[in-house]
Amino acid sequence: MKIPIGGVAFFDSGVGGLTVLNACQKRLAGEKFYYYGDNERAPYGSLPPTQIERYVKEAFDLFEQLQVKCAVVACNTVTALCVDGLRARYSFPIIGAEPAVVSAAKRGGEVFVLTTRATFESQRFHLLCEKVQTKYPLAKLTAYACEGLAGEIETHFCDAFYDFTERLPRGSPDAVVLGCTHYVYIRERIKKFYNCEVFDGNEGIAQRLCGLLRQNSACKEQNFTSETAGSEKNRDGRPLFQKSMGEVGIFDHLLSRNAEIKKLGTKTNKCSYIKTRKSRIIPSIKAKNEIYFLGSGADKNKHFCERMFEF
Ligand code: DGL
Repeated sequence: MKIPIGGVAFFDSGVGGLTVLNACQKRLAGEKFYYYGDNERAPYGSLPPTQIERYVKEAFDLFEQLQVKCAVVACNTVTALCVDGLRARYSFPIIGAEPAVVSAAKRGGEVFVLTTRATFESQRFHLLCEKVQTKYPLAKLTAYACEGLAGEIETHFCDAFYDFTERLPRGSPDAVVLGCTHYVYIRERIKKFYNCEVFDGNEGIAQRLCGLLRQNSACKEQNFTSETAGSEKNRDGRPLFQKSMGEVGIFDHLLSRNAEIKKLGTKTNKCSYIKTRKSRIIPSIKAKNEIYFLGSGADKNKHFCERMFEF
């Protein structure tokens, strides 16, 4: 089984990160993406931090073997709990998802910040709110842990009639910040419920990713034209930038003992496919971008991605 190395990786507990991938891929024609969704174990937001860290490590170990050029933590919960640890552990650049509190607070007035329980209780989120509140005293930030909301969205996000409002705090804010990438699916419903402006961080992430890739390719060009070409190394000794896309085999340790490997339908003959109980890789190629779906939610995410977003 072979999949190409050197793409841009996205991680989320489930479907939420697809909204981030959608925002990013629009700006990056011709890029290779991996989307790792752990939908079978989602939602993460009410799990203990140590369990979340363990699950996330499985995904990032795979990203490391795929020699990703960059990883996007398309999940506010995982960013809040794990991003510092991930950056210390892995040598590739990692972009996190922070709630867009700055954009909302700049406008002043009452701002509701909606998050999962785990984000709400994290120190990182607490410090962010404190910092922004101090900088923008005309805003009044109030954070809420929307118990169970991400899980309901994971299951019912396609149901136009499902009522999510039971999970939303009552009040009349001037702005709402979506501090969980799952909440982006019900953005319009939240907007209607509060009748106010709603902010999410997806465009900000897309901008950061484009900036980072631009910077990397500028460095790469410089490396190859200078006398020190090729001398830059990552922590593990491999060159900082891949000169060309290669392929790697998919890794035995990801297969469960009873792993079932079979070929799945394909629109391309560029690579073959794997299906195991624990780990799946299902390619999807639309337009110029290639997207490889990984993790326990590979089927589900591929299915929804193709139907909901234009690639
Ligand atoms: N999409 C996630 C976030 O941004 C996680 C939701 C969950 O799994 O609880 O927080």
